[in-house]
Amino acid sequence: MVELPGQIRRMSGGISQLVEQICGFSRKCLFRVLSMGPLPIHLAFIMDGNRRYAKKLGLEVGSGHKAGFPALMSMLQYCYELGIKYVTIYAFSIDNFNRRPEEVQYLMELMLEKIKSLLEKESFAHEYGIRVYFIGNLALLSDQVRAAAEEVMKVTAKNSKVVLLVCVAYNSTDEILQAVKKSCMNKLGDRDVERIQLVDIEGNMQMSVAPDPDILIRSSGETRLSNFLLWQTGNTQLFSPDALWPEIGLRHLVWAILNFQRSHSYLEKKKKQL
Ligand code: FPP
Ligand code: MG
Repeated sequence: MVELPGQIRRMSGGISQLVEQICGFSRKCLFRVLSMGPLPIHLAFIMDGNRRYAKKLGLEVGSGHKAGFPALMSMLQYCYELGIKYVTIYAFSIDNFNRRPEEVQYLMELMLEKIKSLLEKESFAHEYGIRVYFIGNLALLSDQVRAAAEEVMKVTAKNSKVVLLVCVAYNSTDEILQAVKKSCMNKLGDRDVERIQLVDIEGNMQMSVAPDPDILIRSSGETRLSNFLLWQTGNTQLFSPDALWPEIGLRHLVWAILNFQRSHSYLEKKKKQL
């Protein structure tokens, strides 16, 4: 590889810094304009299309998942800048355990690496005051991943600026089943099933730490919910851009928020009728 002379290297570093500053400033202006309308409190993402992205570029499956991570980081950064309080991501479903063992192992290793990085002092969770919850049947994870996830929940428990909910070993029917079981357990001995109310089940849902999502974005053009937040998305605005997850960017987020703002007053009226 050809070594760039020091002066050119410094110059190109300076240019990219300048470009970054211009982008940051333009984003700030754009977000100011967006903030004139109602903003979502809770945004959820189904990060779909990583393997298709890898295939499109002739890469290994794992590279698609790896490329999904910086896309996720950018999205979290934008949400933070916009002042969105809750962000939920579908990182790994219970059904994903049925994928090829090599892929499951790769994803678990990637997850472990990223979860561990959240424990570092200079992690973005501490920098931005993010409280992290891992939502799902954590007993299905390896001891190592589960221990790291529990540690992150513990060390970020005092953060309160933003809440990040990472759904791993999750699916909605399992969450509902566990909540129903818990509700029954709490009222065990009481044979009168009538005493189990909707609020009991709702209160025992793992997602009850956050309000229902206002917007759900599923990348890759798929319009299915795939057993994600079935209980919580009755009034959620769905948006499914064609971009594969690693290709998702600011324009998709802005478009989703504009769509949300357009139907906001209708959705608010509908919520009040319920
Ligand atoms: C779905 O795409 C994506 C996943 C199952 C994994 C998502 C993981 C990441 C974005 C990276 C890491 C995240 C964390 C929290 C460490 P797919 O595999 O279904 O792709 P396809 O639809 O093209 O087959
Ligand atoms: Mg998929």
